[in-house]
Amino acid sequence: MPQSLLSFTVLGLSFFSSALAAQKQQWDTEDKIHGVNLGGWLVLEPWITPSLFEATGNENIVDEWTFGELQDRDNATAALKAHWDSWITEDDFKQIAKAGLTHVRLPIGYWAFETGPGEPYISGQQPYLLAALDWAAKYGIKVNVDLHGAPGSQNGFDNSGHLMDVPGWAYNDTNVARTVAVLQTMTDLVKDHEAASIIAPLNEILAKSSPDMIMGVAKKYWEDSYDVVSTTAPEKITILHDVFNTSDYWGDYMSEKPYGSVMFDTHIYQVFADEQLKWNFTEHVSHICERSVNVTEMALPTVVGEWTLALTDCAKYLNGRLVGARWDGTYPGSEHLGDCAAWTGSGEDFSSEYKEQLRAFRDAQVTTWLKGQGYFFWTWKAEAAAEWSYQDGLKYGWIPQNPNDFKYGDICDDSSVAASLDLDISISL
Ligand SMILES: *[C@@H]1O[C@H](CO)[C@@H](O)[C@H](O)[C@H]1NC(C)=O
Ligand SMILES: *[C@@H]1O[C@H](CO)[C@@H](O)[C@H](O)[C@H]1NC(C)=O
Ligand SMILES: *[C@@H]1O[C@H](CO)[C@@H](O)[C@H](O)[C@H]1NC(C)=O
Ligand SMILES: *[C@@H]1O[C@H](CO)[C@@H](O)[C@H](O)[C@H]1NC(C)=O
Ligand SMILES: *[C@@H]1O[C@H](CO)[C@@H](O)[C@H](O)[C@H]1NC(C)=O
Repeated sequence: MPQSLLSFTVLGLSFFSSALAAQKQQWDTEDKIHGVNLGGWLVLEPWITPSLFEATGNENIVDEWTFGELQDRDNATAALKAHWDSWITEDDFKQIAKAGLTHVRLPIGYWAFETGPGEPYISGQQPYLLAALDWAAKYGIKVNVDLHGAPGSQNGFDNSGHLMDVPGWAYNDTNVARTVAVLQTMTDLVKDHEAASIIAPLNEILAKSSPDMIMGVAKKYWEDSYDVVSTTAPEKITILHDVFNTSDYWGDYMSEKPYGSVMFDTHIYQVFADEQLKWNFTEHVSHICERSVNVTEMALPTVVGEWTLALTDCAKYLNGRLVGARWDGTYPGSEHLGDCAAWTGSGEDFSSEYKEQLRAFRDAQVTTWLKGQGYFFWTWKAEAAAEWSYQDGLKYGWIPQNPNDFKYGDICDDSSVAASLDLDISISL
């Protein structure tokens, strides 16, 4: 077909796609994000710091809400303060910079900014957020300030602050309005800090029940959030989670004017469904490599804001405090796939084959995520689950000291690479 005719017939379309390309271009010229989450610090998670929960001596303390509710308030406050003072310090930022990482994602709950009547959360996190921004600036790290828990809970996960069967955020306008106000407060607090380059208005809204209604609430909240960030701190990027919906669904959402400086965030795990846990290593890797389309096909730049090297759900309390693992059949309704001992705990005890597999799994994921805008590993530290800890990966060698170093850089192009490392993960090591 003559070139001129082609241009003519697709004029409307090419005009449209060049508008998208222009939008995307602004980000393609940015450096890729090599980031890590600072999980379990300003928002507690039982599996990241089991000791904080065990020290309460109360099995009903399963999240940050019950941590404030079910123990002596002075004791709870003292325990939290000691934790905030020690879990992440300036030295962590130094190590993160030394490991060649460019960004951290810092989860914080709404209760750091306000609490309503009857909400037992303990606040006091704001000075730590500000200290983190100063440390980040000192070591040349950028921060994604991530609102991780909203009033009523946006997903019912313990990591929203409040474990609930039916999360209440999206069903209650007051909760949503309070969240917009909290986002305003949070943005005001960090707006003059250059290190705070990205604002995440809310982590992992879940649209499990009444999905159409909740997707509608989520989109309206994203639009209101964009207004808050773009009017208060126009030079900062707003990053929107995909609400666990697909890249096809979001497509070119918010990619055209009046929007700008928006990125998408998707979270990729393979350990929370029986079907995925049954994959052998080769299958785990190929399912990662297939996701490259999902980090490249959206009009806006896409970051994988959470991912892990875990191949099982064996980490203690990962599915909730005192809840078992699907892997070894101790989770309600699950079957025994293997024993847990070899797959979690201290990196010192990991076999050399397992460590090699973790290295290859890291390379498969990082090469794939870098086809998009980059990544934030979940998470920097964990007390007793080295497979989830970037710091342990560096220490025990399955994460390279330079994030652009790939030992298995061709793992997505050649399936024999993963197959040669395939431990039969359904048996115990
Ligand atoms: C508070 O902590 C102290 C010291 O750990 C302990 O002896 C005391 O029993 C705790 N008080 C309550 C009410 O839990
Ligand atoms: C909505 O949430 C607010 C707290 O944000 C609470 O005071 C109010 O009772 C809730 N409304 C309903 C109908 O549950
Ligand atoms: C995506 O959003 C649509 C529209 O609200 C909804 O019908 C669908 O269930 C959602 N899909 C997923 C996977 O959440
Ligand atoms: C990934 O992309 C494929 C191909 O476009 C699509 O079918 C799938 O739904 C996407 N998955 C997610 C989770 O976005
Ligand atoms: C992994 O599973 C796939 C699909 O069941 C199978 O074809 C392949 O042989 C397995 N790989 C190894 C190394 O066991």
